[in-house]
Amino acid sequence: MADILQQLEQRRADARMGGGQARIDAQHAKGKLTARERIELLLDDDSFEEFDMFVTHRCTDFGMAGAKVPGDGVITGWGTINGRQVYVYSQDFTVLGGSLSETHAGKICKIMDMAMRNGAPVIGLNDSGGARIQEGVASLAGYAEVFQKNVLASGVVPQISVIMGPCAGGAVYSPAMTDFIFMVRDSSYMFVTGPDVVKTVTNEVVTAEELGGAATHTRKSSVADGAFENDVIALTEIRRLVDFLPLNNRSKPPVRPFFDDPRRLDHSLDTLIPANANTPYDMKELIVKLADEGDFYEIQEEFARNILTGFIRLEGSTVGVVANQPMVLAGCLDIDSSRKAARFVRFCDAFEIPILTLVDVPGFLPGTGQEFGGVIKHGAKLLFAYGEATVPKVTVITRKAYGGAYDVMASKHLRGDLNYAWPTAEIAVMGAKGATEILYRGELGDPEKIAARTAEYETSFANPFKAAERGFIDEVILPHSTRKRVCRAFASLRGKALSNPWKKHDNIPL
Ligand code: HXC
Repeated sequence: MADILQQLEQRRADARMGGGQARIDAQHAKGKLTARERIELLLDDDSFEEFDMFVTHRCTDFGMAGAKVPGDGVITGWGTINGRQVYVYSQDFTVLGGSLSETHAGKICKIMDMAMRNGAPVIGLNDSGGARIQEGVASLAGYAEVFQKNVLASGVVPQISVIMGPCAGGAVYSPAMTDFIFMVRDSSYMFVTGPDVVKTVTNEVVTAEELGGAATHTRKSSVADGAFENDVIALTEIRRLVDFLPLNNRSKPPVRPFFDDPRRLDHSLDTLIPANANTPYDMKELIVKLADEGDFYEIQEEFARNILTGFIRLEGSTVGVVANQPMVLAGCLDIDSSRKAARFVRFCDAFEIPILTLVDVPGFLPGTGQEFGGVIKHGAKLLFAYGEATVPKVTVITRKAYGGAYDVMASKHLRGDLNYAWPTAEIAVMGAKGATEILYRGELGDPEKIAARTAEYETSFANPFKAAERGFIDEVILPHSTRKRVCRAFASLRGKALSNPWKKHDNIPL
């Protein structure tokens, strides 16, 4: 018996060595942790339950019969993050470059099935040279099976991808179908075809970092939702994100202990809006002042910065925040900000996370660039996302809410549950200058008359009361009481029940 136990320990020890000490050292030399070290940091101490440690590939071509490593380049199992269950896979670059074989894919699919059945998120730590070249089509089949699971799991359990090394070819498409993608700066990249193929086909000379590094994907392509300095920070931040999320679409978001008084007043908010309506202010300040303990987990911080998206807690419960940012492009809606916010709203709605919308929007960005790029279709994404969302929706208009953008930003007409406005709100079809120039075109040559018309328009429309008179605004609130009002609003909506008509699925303008 002692022999058998020892054999098991020996087999386990061999499996834990992955591709061997030299390759582990090479991994460390690149500033990267090993697949196992990453799991240890991600999960609570001693919580990891591993599966399929002894799985090996079945390939015999290209001398592969003699190149079997137990585990086949991916470590899979489940564990906990602050006591809550998550399933994890972590690709081991020391084993054949973390390349994906048929059996490697099978291990990932197995835990994804378990995650869906048992209602727990899936976190993928990606570090792979892509399809295992020696396996040919069997490896492609493996990828496609993972893709299919990603589709089925979407909206059932949260799926998070962390890119911690190369991610090339088809390997990018599994992360692309998950809810969030995070990258590690300087050691991870994602592209469909690498720099050499790009040079051959388009004659462009580009480095791997320029083509698919963290800066590219967080600022330009918006493929990634965030990037971190190194593996340790990335994994710590993923733990923080998981704390905000429900485990599945059947459970409510977690409620954490909180030490911040929900009735807390913040008098500095009374002077947040500058005297001049065209002067910007930082909407992030309002979000942080509303949130429990000022904790804001921002998603896509570096992309489409004219809109802010992320998670806060109010009275300990997770709330998704969407907010126009007057500091960038005056907070207008455009193609990028509409896409960014629409995806976020849909994630929140899929996982029963209530949505707080903070509005200061002068309208949609005009111009040929926007029209040729399809701002009609992309803007409609956000409109559609808000319109279909059935979660509690609370809206606060701080300043401008003009035109179609007023409608889009979780207005009463899109089933906003509670719509508040600060006394500084201006809710109208358009700003005073534009309106008077259209209405009084014949008087344009007379500056005095036009100034009087503009002043008249401002008095009539540049306020929240026209909307409040119609009940489109439920209450005009004092800025300093916003946290209290918003907390009470969400508290009053805890029992909300609303569903959309039956359909196979909708046809959101993609
Ligand atoms: C088999 C692979 C491999 C792969 C790397 N290795 N990629 N083995 N299949 N796809 C092996 C290497 O042979 C090497 O083995 C070890 O992993 C480490 O690789 P290195 O090249 O030494 O490492 P590095 O210099 O860091 O470069 C990493 C890399 C490079 C950039 C990822 O290995 C690379 O370009 N690999 C190929 C990428 C690729 O084209 N993949 C196929 C994409 S197509 P030894 O024994 O020397 O340690 C695809 C289609 C899927 O994925 C489509 C699904 C729809």
